[in-house]
Amino acid sequence: MSGENQFGLSSSAASDYEAKSVPAIFGPMAEAMLDAIDLPDTATVLDVACGTGVVARAVGNRLAGSCRIVGADLNPAMIDIARQNHSTGPHNFEWSVAPAERMPFESGSFDLVFCQQGLQFFPDKPAAVHEIRRVMTDRGRLFLTCWAAIPPFFEVVSATLKQHVSVETAATAIRPFIWTDAELIGGIIEAGGFDVPPPQIVPLMRRLPATASAIRTGLLATPNEAALRALGNDVLDRIAAEILDGVENYREGDSLAMPQQTYLFSCTAR
Ligand SMILES: C[S@@+](CC[C@H](N)C(=O)[O-])C[C@H]1O[C@@H](n2cnc3c(N)ncnc32)[C@H](O)[C@@H]1O
Repeated sequence: MSGENQFGLSSSAASDYEAKSVPAIFGPMAEAMLDAIDLPDTATVLDVACGTGVVARAVGNRLAGSCRIVGADLNPAMIDIARQNHSTGPHNFEWSVAPAERMPFESGSFDLVFCQQGLQFFPDKPAAVHEIRRVMTDRGRLFLTCWAAIPPFFEVVSATLKQHVSVETAATAIRPFIWTDAELIGGIIEAGGFDVPPPQIVPLMRRLPATASAIRTGLLATPNEAALRALGNDVLDRIAAEILDGVENYREGDSLAMPQQTYLFSCTAR
């Protein structure tokens, strides 16, 4: 099972993810995570399941000096976009297509590791956590986030897809959010060789334009892309419009502001 991607995106979905999902939620989450932790001045950094590199870039913006900052992700389309987008600042960025369960790095290479909304997708979570520990220094810090609940927006998305498309697309829409047992997650990280205090719960807002077209693009920036494109544009537009109706109560002027909550695990390598 090692190496399977349960959040596989095509090139166009990866590009929509960077253009729309990163500003809507993953960028603000990276900043909220960094605001919540004590960041050293310099570090050797690994971003596991880095996607398009949002956490690696955000960390780079806050570190001094010239640091090695590495992003690894199983999906080549995500890594392509990460390569195109990192800053030309003082740090040395490296990008690697690699499964979290088997990364091409020397043992003890990193003293600061992040994994933002990745663990829930790894087919072999204990193996991935052991691998993360292997590439870290003793007493290195791991900061890992996993969603704490299904957000109201995705309840509406899932119900609409169930009614108009299929049970499978409805399940795919909420899959990132259903692995929410903090004790289970903490236990897996601890068994991998970390001290794991109880997680913080970090409140966030998913912000996007209150338009059917923004919702449609968001639907396509997911593993449901192929199933939804197969419906054709008219059906897809109607589904996006119905979802927009279902979240009208979150409208703030021209935008939607919809609450989400993530766990933040702040762990130390034993
Ligand atoms: C929701 S995205 C999060 C990406 C990024 N951390 C962010 O905050 O934008 C989940 C990522 O996990 C990656 N992924 C899924 N399974 C993986 C695995 N076994 N090893 C490494 N990455 C994996 C996907 O390719 C995807 O980029």
